[in-house]
Amino acid sequence: MTTTITTVAAVREQVAAARVAGRRVALVPTMGALHEGHLALVAHAREVADVVVVSVFVNPMQFGPKDDFTRYPRDLDGDRGLLAEAGADVLFAPEATELLPDGRTQVRVTAGQIGDTLEGRVRPGHFDGVLTIVLKLLHVVGPDVVVFGQKDAQQVFLVRRMIRDLDVPVGLEVVQTIREDDGLARSSRNRYLDAGARRLARLVPAALDAAESAADRDADAMTAAAQSALAGEDGVVLDYLAVVDPATFRPVDDGYRGRALVLVAARVGGTRLIDNRFVHLG
Ligand code: PAF
Repeated sequence: MTTTITTVAAVREQVAAARVAGRRVALVPTMGALHEGHLALVAHAREVADVVVVSVFVNPMQFGPKDDFTRYPRDLDGDRGLLAEAGADVLFAPEATELLPDGRTQVRVTAGQIGDTLEGRVRPGHFDGVLTIVLKLLHVVGPDVVVFGQKDAQQVFLVRRMIRDLDVPVGLEVVQTIREDDGLARSSRNRYLDAGARRLARLVPAALDAAESAADRDADAMTAAAQSALAGEDGVVLDYLAVVDPATFRPVDDGYRGRALVLVAARVGGTRLIDNRFVHLG
């Protein structure tokens, strides 16, 4: 059975009771509109912990003025049903006034330089908002472990840095991206794709295939291959294609050899999709 909790005091009480009973607690932070990708995070959380708390909170602090905060899909009843089937113990679904009584926090976590690149360049302030709410959730819930999906690779990198830089006492687990049959990464935003855009969306993972097939040359060749996989398709606009060192999240230098992460972001029929893949360069 999944218990729905909406207040900070009640979730703290529940987690404290679990801790007293010697149980290990995992938190899966989400913004709701749950899909198979989230359920894979819940399944992993069940493997590494005794009690699984899933937060559903559409965080206004991570949306910019041009972003889709009001349009972001919300379906708490649907989420509750999926979480019950997935075996989550607690659905923590606070109202905005409970978690952000002033609408936004005045004190914030700053994501630093990497927070201003790639997703952060397209969406200024996004990662400050993400990290601030993730830190708040970690303080409120106090889990032993927090679970994120690799699909949001830059978010994972920055959460890892925050945990390290700020000595946050929590373990981080990262779960592989869940995909549709044609390779499209599962995302809450996929529901915005109409039939035509959905057909084109498979070009996003195809761009990663193309990049990977050029990984025996260099990063420039990978970028060119990915760009040509997307070129000439009306309705697909590439935002960025980057090859970064996973340890630093900085673009790899000429001559870099070893494990690299290819990141792609594209607008497909007006919907922004992101994806990534680890490759071996060289
Ligand atoms: O990945 C998300 O859904 C959000 O960025 C998160 C981690 C729940 C913070 O609002």
